[in-house]
Amino acid sequence: MNQDLKKKNSAIEAFNLINPKLNKDSVIGIGTGSTTNFFIEELNSSNLHIKGVVCSSKASASLIRNTYDVLSLNEVHSLDFYVDGADEYNDRKELIKGGGGALTREKILAYSSESFICIVDETKHTDLLGREFPLAIEVIEIARSAVSRELMKMGGKPIFRNGFTSDNGNQIVDVHNFPIEIPYELEAEINNIPGVVENGIFAKRKADVIICATDNSINILD
Ligand code: A5P
Repeated sequence: MNQDLKKKNSAIEAFNLINPKLNKDSVIGIGTGSTTNFFIEELNSSNLHIKGVVCSSKASASLIRNTYDVLSLNEVHSLDFYVDGADEYNDRKELIKGGGGALTREKILAYSSESFICIVDETKHTDLLGREFPLAIEVIEIARSAVSRELMKMGGKPIFRNGFTSDNGNQIVDVHNFPIEIPYELEAEINNIPGVVENGIFAKRKADVIICATDNSINILD
């Protein structure tokens, strides 16, 4: 089975999981990325009567069918569900996100959600976050080199994501060769470096449910 089909199956499973729990006051948080796009397809092809959606990127918002209200997070009390993909996940449901550069808004929405449902395929599983997939860090432009020097001292190899600007107008540094032994601690440590807006470790607010599609099954970790 190709990877896209697995992503789609995971997204459909997430849709089926939350659908019976939705009502006219429900608000769904929508992540960013190719797996989330399959979830948006499900949403668009159904006729849910909900209050609306809040999106973690302009790209996702642009895909939502106009029968749904795309709301700002400031307009809502909380998100009933937040559905998003991940670049890597471990058995503790901790994640690395930010391959698409939307990590800051994604983390804000994840924090604001009652339930964070992460949709992945089996290729995203790892025993050690950061060993293979680089950790994205959103930085204020003037602090890019200073932050990168600090990350080198911490043992990583930071590479500037050239030509990319986040929806917040900031830059991204991807840290390679950076195995993350204690995600919760490193998440806080990196965010303490002046100039860092946010980093892509999702450990303090990790996923509540991981839906992982394999070749012949859907595994749910909750
Ligand atoms: C976006 O910034 C990321 O956090 C994505 O959620 C993550 O990269 C997963 O993307 P795919 O679903 O495209 O693999």
